[in-house]
Amino acid sequence: MDHNKRLLEDCALVEQWLEKCFADRERYGQIYEAMNYSLMAGGKRIRPVLTLETCRMCGGDVEIALPFACALEMVHTYSLIHDDLPCMDDDDLRRGKPTNHKVFGEANAVLAGDALLTAAFEMMTEYRGTLNADRVLDAIDCLSHAAGAAGMIGGQVLDMEGEERPLSLEELKLMQSLKTGALICAAAELGCIVAGGSEEQRRAVREYAQCIGRAFQVRDDMLDVTSTDEVLGKPIGSDAENGKTTFVTALGLEGCGKLVDELTEQAIEALGEFDQPEFHIWLAHLLAGRDH
Ligand code: IPE
Ligand code: IPE
Ligand code: MG
Ligand code: MG
Ligand code: MG
Repeated sequence: MDHNKRLLEDCALVEQWLEKCFADRERYGQIYEAMNYSLMAGGKRIRPVLTLETCRMCGGDVEIALPFACALEMVHTYSLIHDDLPCMDDDDLRRGKPTNHKVFGEANAVLAGDALLTAAFEMMTEYRGTLNADRVLDAIDCLSHAAGAAGMIGGQVLDMEGEERPLSLEELKLMQSLKTGALICAAAELGCIVAGGSEEQRRAVREYAQCIGRAFQVRDDMLDVTSTDEVLGKPIGSDAENGKTTFVTALGLEGCGKLVDELTEQAIEALGEFDQPEFHIWLAHLLAGRDH
């Protein structure tokens, strides 16, 4: 099948699943509205697609991976809501719409983020009937580590430190692996876990995703300088305004472009293990050249 068609099909599955998630919940004030506002605002859905396609590449059933893919997208969405808060990046636009705190207020935005994070784990435990309980536990273990202080949160802490003092290149690499790489890596690993992939497959998938995750953040830093608000759906120039250390400040745009290419090649090399790596190869190139 055409890779772009498969990407669109996967995105449609994710949109449908997420749309139903909180549809029949009892309402407490605006909380579900605030959660759905950011969740359904039209993200690229790269992470859940990676879960679904990694599950397929490891020989698993994409339908069974869907709740896990969507749980990860909830964690990612929560990270964006909090990332945009005035105490962090203080941004007003996300996914082409006013940020959560601009619409619902800061308290509701904090709570909507917290609730999405909690819902993700609730969602995964609910599916222990569909999937062997050991695999569910493995998935929860993987996502909780990736989202926590040793993963995405740790990266966000380093990112905020980078506003106070210039980070070394080593610290920048650690920051990118944690704040962005960790969740992208977990996305791929969840697919492998659900499929019951081998240790070798898990290692290969992790190497691939770590590389595209790192490249993803370098590209994100470049787009903050080169894109427009309209195309990106979030405010450009935010990093410079906050005085952040980024790959652009450390390496310049040309150096960043080279690094993205190197990481993309390294990601593709890691796929030698698999019989059908074509979609993942295509995705690595797509993300390396993305304009939003
Ligand atoms: C933005 O992620 C935050 C970073 C880790 C750079 P995405 O670029 O995947 O954002 P959405 O999900 O498409 O909005
Ligand atoms: C944030 O990195 C990564 C997260 C963990 C949310 P950025 O702050 O660069 O992400 P954007 O540019 O706001 O999407
Ligand atoms: Mg940030
Ligand atoms: Mg930000
Ligand atoms: Mg950014």
